Amino acid sequence: MVQIITVLNHKGGVGKTTSSVNIGAGLSIRGKKVLLIDLDPQANLTLHFSLPINKTPNVYEALRGESPLPVTKVKENLDVVTSSLDLTAAESELSGVAGREFILKELVSKIKSEYDFIIIDCPPSLGLLTLNALAVSDYMIIPIEMGDFALAGMNKLFEIVQLVQKRLNTGLTQYRILLTKVDTRKTLHKEIKETICENFNGKTFDTIIPTNVALEEAQMQGEDIYSYNPESTGAAEYLKVCDEILEIFK
Ligand SMILES: Nc1ncnc2c1ncn2[C@@H]1O[C@H](COP(=O)(O)OP(=O)(O)OP(=O)(O)O)[C@@H](O)[C@H]1O
Ligand SMILES: [Mg+2]
Repeated sequence: MVQIITVLNHKGGVGKTTSSVNIGAGLSIRGKKVLLIDLDPQANLTLHFSLPINKTPNVYEALRGESPLPVTKVKENLDVVTSSLDLTAAESELSGVAGREFILKELVSKIKSEYDFIIIDCPPSLGLLTLNALAVSDYMIIPIEMGDFALAGMNKLFEIVQLVQKRLNTGLTQYRILLTKVDTRKTLHKEIKETICENFNGKTFDTIIPTNVALEEAQMQGEDIYSYNPESTGAAEYLKVCDEILEIFK
């Protein structure tokens, strides 16, 4: 059965897209059929695979009801639904539509049987696009960037998740926190890591993602980390996250 996973955090730059790309690509390397959906008007996931951001139809036209979800094959076992800057308009355009939180769910229902995993990369907000992702998802991955204010704003995120659970998707109960950009040499990071693990008892991945320049370079080169530098720490750690995910859903 397909597992639908939303990668979210309304904080910007915490590693949502990097994680979506490299978890999606890692699961495909492990032999799973994966669909990645770019639900962010910044279209960073689309660019991360060197796909065009001006090609139509993309996820925007699909949300407007003008097309089914347009799927592009990027490599063996890995498909992507691209985004475009036009998606910025979707939040306001769809705000008056009845059932507006369930548009993605309806679109995904037509193709989900073809996949083992569908992973949705959200924008840094808790608006209508993120609600659409949560309404269709079974599971959440919440990347948290290591730093002084790592946990600031998390209450707001969980308030929204509770509302979603109550009103839109009673099945959305499970999540894992993924610690990203961790500098293991810094004592402060070690302390923050311990606090986060205590706060989210049992809900953090064992694997943590270190700060690794190869991950940044891979994004700039428009490749996943396994194609760009399979020997990097980033590749090794993201593959470990994939193995934890496979363990969760086995
Ligand atoms: N572990 C890491 N080590 C080094 N750089 C990283 C790491 N993870 C992400 N980055 C870099 O940090 C920046 C932000 O990452 P990313 O785009 O994945 O965040 P995001 O949460 O998707 O951002 P946004 O909220 O804007 O969508 C990018 O330049 C990315 O290459
Ligand atoms: Mg992003």
